[in-house]
Amino acid sequence: MIEKKIDSLLSLMTLKEKIGQLVLYSGSWDVTGPPSDVGNKEKYEKLKNGEVGAMLNVVSVAGTTELQKTVIENSRLKIPLLFGYDVIHGFKTIFPVPLAESASWDLEAIRKSSSIAAKEATASGINWAYGPMVDISRDARWGRVMEGAGEDPFLGSKIAVARIQGFQGDDLSKNSTLAACAKHFAAYGFAEGGRDYNTVSVGEFELHNTILPPFKAAAKAGVATMMNAFNEIDGIPATGHKELQRDILKESWDWDGFIVSDWASIAEMIPHGYAKDEVHAAERAILAGSDMDMEGRAYEKGLEQLVKEGKVDEKLIEDAARRILRVKYQLGLFDDPYKYCDKEREKNDIYTKENLEASRDVAKKSIVLLKNDNEILPLKKDIKSIAVIGALANDKDSPIGSWRGMATANSAVSLLEGIKAAVSKTVKVSYAKGVKIGVGERSFIKELDVNREDLTGISEAVSIAKEAEVVVLAIGEEAFQSGEGRSQVSITLTAPQQKLFEAVWAANKNIVAVLMNGRPLAISNIAKKTPAILETWHLGSESGNAIADVLFGDYNPSGKLPVSFPRNVGQMPLYYNIKNTGRPTNKNDMVFWSHYTDEQNEALFPFGFGLSYTTFEYKNLELDVSSFTSGGAITVSVTLANTGKRKGKEVVQLYIRDIIGSITRPVKELKGFELVELDAGKSKTVSFTINEETIQFYTANKKWEAEPGQFKVFVGGSSKTTLEADFSFKK
Ligand code: IFM
Repeated sequence: MIEKKIDSLLSLMTLKEKIGQLVLYSGSWDVTGPPSDVGNKEKYEKLKNGEVGAMLNVVSVAGTTELQKTVIENSRLKIPLLFGYDVIHGFKTIFPVPLAESASWDLEAIRKSSSIAAKEATASGINWAYGPMVDISRDARWGRVMEGAGEDPFLGSKIAVARIQGFQGDDLSKNSTLAACAKHFAAYGFAEGGRDYNTVSVGEFELHNTILPPFKAAAKAGVATMMNAFNEIDGIPATGHKELQRDILKESWDWDGFIVSDWASIAEMIPHGYAKDEVHAAERAILAGSDMDMEGRAYEKGLEQLVKEGKVDEKLIEDAARRILRVKYQLGLFDDPYKYCDKEREKNDIYTKENLEASRDVAKKSIVLLKNDNEILPLKKDIKSIAVIGALANDKDSPIGSWRGMATANSAVSLLEGIKAAVSKTVKVSYAKGVKIGVGERSFIKELDVNREDLTGISEAVSIAKEAEVVVLAIGEEAFQSGEGRSQVSITLTAPQQKLFEAVWAANKNIVAVLMNGRPLAISNIAKKTPAILETWHLGSESGNAIADVLFGDYNPSGKLPVSFPRNVGQMPLYYNIKNTGRPTNKNDMVFWSHYTDEQNEALFPFGFGLSYTTFEYKNLELDVSSFTSGGAITVSVTLANTGKRKGKEVVQLYIRDIIGSITRPVKELKGFELVELDAGKSKTVSFTINEETIQFYTANKKWEAEPGQFKVFVGGSSKTTLEADFSFKK
């Protein structure tokens, strides 16, 4: 039905109008009226002529109504605009940064936060979200690690699908759902040295087995759009990558959505050294399958000429326009171009009490308890005194994190506010900032740069620490230390914060370190000393309340790390699903094995790790059969027992190892997980199915298939599992 409508619309369109659909502009003027400056006047004229397909960064009902009207009332064919925006972890109500939310391993909670973000964004006129970011990333130096689901392709795929379902719902034509955009296709998270926009040189097998799975899952889940990437992959910019975009995504995966370029990434093929000018870049990009040009101005400059010169077949432009029109039809924009322009919804549906409650709920589920010696946590609510220390503890802005949509600055509940609201009035809560975080100049500020003011702050912190029963020390990163363009060579705490920690530690050993950060940090020193560490990331609008929920035991922490935490930045890239290498172990105290001479190989806190206020025991790992053939399956079961004194949730994780393959295989790969809640003293049998699909990978035959052979299965509460068994697969 939709295809017929597109056919007849396309038959009416001039080449210029078809190309127009491929153009995406940023609304860089006050869009509630015509622009006054020359550059934007040109954009405005093109809108009137029907030579623009979509706008980004126009974020209000007034603005989107005005521009939609401009197109509908002036252009020949009245083709409605798409309005795109970076809805990354909320719109106005801010949820935990995506990496944090991934630590919940709670797909339903993740789906819900995306659906609330969609509801708020659509109430403001947006119908297209530039998320989820599904890039696998294994290098914490890369600032955008905060925007993804971490290091693992299996977990990353599940979370990608949950987010897409949240954004798109089961009906894209509702006015509370919007088109999602899986990004950045592909390999953006593998930038060399963790430096944003840098070169990527991965091999074909790494690409297929590690990087592409979340994109494939997104395509299968019906994601409406994808965004390509700034990086090159082994010499070919992603934007000009035909094999990736046309052959794999559109052809082999049979995906019918459209690909938008990243900001100016078509024109950036010129500095890449892959195109001589914008016309050449346009040619490379359209041939490779990039459908829409985001602010690159290359398609509008080059495509008409390229068709006339016979360098580009008009059919390719028609195919791109068809894909874009398809999404517009699916959204129902042709039935009502103003369906997202509802002032009442804009007034009532955004930043509601209900949405904030949902943010608090997923925020507390995203917290990971990394250490809890002597059960220092949870704190008693009638504790005599708490010293809350650290600039981040009184910071209402950093918890909002990077890529914060329409958040109001300084609008988050701070940790100090959360603690004060949670405890009874008799508790003495004192606060000292201690030191500035130490960014701004350079985050790797040296010891000598710790200035006088900082030292004064430290003595105040020490004096309240001495008086208090317990110290809650907030340390980590400000909001914009992570995010796009925020790569760092140092991922330790800044020198002023380390100094603060040492001084407070000397005064009071009862420290609960509350980490606030967008990336894994190397915190070996603190981890060795402090008895308790809560990883709270950048948790969004309700941060302080959610942290207090966990600090005082109203919520028993259930988060598990979606990324490995390093001991040292020199371990980057770091991930659990490594290859064994030819020299994996230290035989007879030799030097010549795969290791560092000055640091362990192992993570400080591994992927999948997280403690609870209760304890869990895994036992009775059983396989119903020890071998299976094509079409068959093995049921793996394990008993999980809550052996502690509280009700708690545990993420039961299943990993496999394929012992010998046509290409080398990782030592462990996550293949299943289940979030289980158990009362104290109770047990449950948890079962997983292993079938042919579970063990498939992109083999030396260059296809997804299962290879016969021996496997190991592991089950436990982190990637450092203890229970294991063997099985085999025969064709
Ligand atoms: O969506 C983003 C992308 O992730 C980075 N470049 C700009 C785009 C639009 O804002």
